[in-house]
Amino acid sequence: MNIILLGPPGAGKGTQARRLVDERKMIQLSTGDMLREARTSGTEMGEKVAAVMDRGDLVTDDIVIGLIREKLEAGDAEGGYIFDGFPRTLAQADALGQLLTELNKTLDHVIEMQVDDEALVTRITGRATCANCGEVYHDATKPIPADGHCTNCNGTEFTRRADDTEEALRTRLLAYYKQTSPLIGYYYAKDALESIDGLKAMDEVAGAISRVLS
Ligand code: AP5
Repeated sequence: MNIILLGPPGAGKGTQARRLVDERKMIQLSTGDMLREARTSGTEMGEKVAAVMDRGDLVTDDIVIGLIREKLEAGDAEGGYIFDGFPRTLAQADALGQLLTELNKTLDHVIEMQVDDEALVTRITGRATCANCGEVYHDATKPIPADGHCTNCNGTEFTRRADDTEEALRTRLLAYYKQTSPLIGYYYAKDALESIDGLKAMDEVAGAISRVLS
């Protein structure tokens, strides 16, 4: 089963993708994570995308499509793939469709996570991530444990993303509404879209996703 988690920054795509990885042995393909990894590797591409990401703009289609192509061609995921933060433009959606066809794979569900803008600001500005395993925390809803150890890997270092500021979030939201939200109509027309309430508590959102998948 291959699925897309679609939603604005802070909708909870990464949080829910990690749960699906644990529970269903799916593989998470997050273009945001791939680009952040490229930034730290010191490659030319990493340098090129760093400023774009920090501003909150979208990286060019050819770069992200190339990253996804590489992952899909590299191996097979028994439990299927979760596309997290990809596709984000109509060109990316078309490219994903072609890639899946080439590899004889299907796209089984596109899950739109609906969250209002006010909640997104709170979620994004309160986010922290374990530097070792990527577990996602939030100052109010899922605080870093008092002993300073990650619940998942026991790591002690936590990071905050450079683009998790109110200013960058405004640009990210604009990019979402201008470039990504047309995908809602695109997948609706293909009869692949299911929308869920991403404002609910994490467990309830996970339950809604589970119902879609089964
Ligand atoms: P990316 O890393 O994909 O970021 P994003 O889409 O902006 O999404 P986020 O990771 O910020 O949010 P999320 O939905 O995963 O929320 P999370 O689960 O962490 O992209 C970053 C940048 O890379 C882009 O701006 C762009 O420059 C570039 N990029 C990436 N992909 C690209 C592409 N395809 N094309 C072009 N450019 C691309 O949750 C957020 C917080 O809320 C956490 O603290 C969490 O604990 C909390 N939370 C989650 N769920 C709940 C809940 N139900 N209730 C309460 N709190 C919750």
